[in-house]
Amino acid sequence: MEILNVRHLLILLASLFFLPALRAIDFEYCNKSGYDFGNVSRVEVSRNPVELEEYPTIKIFGYDNKSIDEGSVEVHVTAGETTHMMERYTLCVVGSECAIAAGTNFVLVLAEVPLKYIEEESKYVYSVRLMDEDVGDSQEPVLRMCVEFEIPIVDLALVSAESS
Ligand SMILES: *[C@@H]1O[C@H](CO)[C@@H](O)[C@H](O)[C@H]1NC(C)=O
Ligand SMILES: *[C@@H]1O[C@H](CO)[C@@H](O)[C@H](O)[C@H]1NC(C)=O
Ligand SMILES: *[C@@H]1O[C@H](CO)[C@@H](O)[C@H](O)[C@H]1NC(C)=O
Repeated sequence: MEILNVRHLLILLASLFFLPALRAIDFEYCNKSGYDFGNVSRVEVSRNPVELEEYPTIKIFGYDNKSIDEGSVEVHVTAGETTHMMERYTLCVVGSECAIAAGTNFVLVLAEVPLKYIEEESKYVYSVRLMDEDVGDSQEPVLRMCVEFEIPIVDLALVSAESS
């Protein structure tokens, strides 16, 4: 009995540690060196890998040194020479609140991101950009933080092999 319980506990612990690890993906800061605004500790995508036609959820976990009172989050995709914006969300939609307070851990939850693919390209780099909109009337939003990453997609060759 006791052995069984220990084993259950181990399985539980293992799943606590490994399930999030399966969703985490590698990322880089877009400017390579990081931002004064704060840092990003992890990027998760679920499901991982993503299937074609499936809209994944992307989560960005980080810590911010500075506050954002009014912001938005943009998702861009770069394939070959072209970059375009796929989606823009207000902070109210993806943050736990409409603002980010200085000196806190934040999580941005981008639900059902409509990934775009361009047929002749095989490499897609997605970026998530945190924009500060509260910068005065006449000014453009200011980029506070940006991370970029590739999203693991179910092997296309495998998919076509299975369906044929
Ligand atoms: C990245 O952005 C920060 C500002 O947040 C700046 O201090 C740093 O120099 C930038 N790095 C590069 C390589 O441009
Ligand atoms: C936050 O600010 C402090 C003091 O300005 C600095 O030492 C630290 O490196 C900053 N952290 C990040 C993640 O930018
Ligand atoms: C982010 O910054 C905080 C505060 O400066 C620090 O404690 C934490 O280790 C940093 N995390 C990463 C992933 O750099």
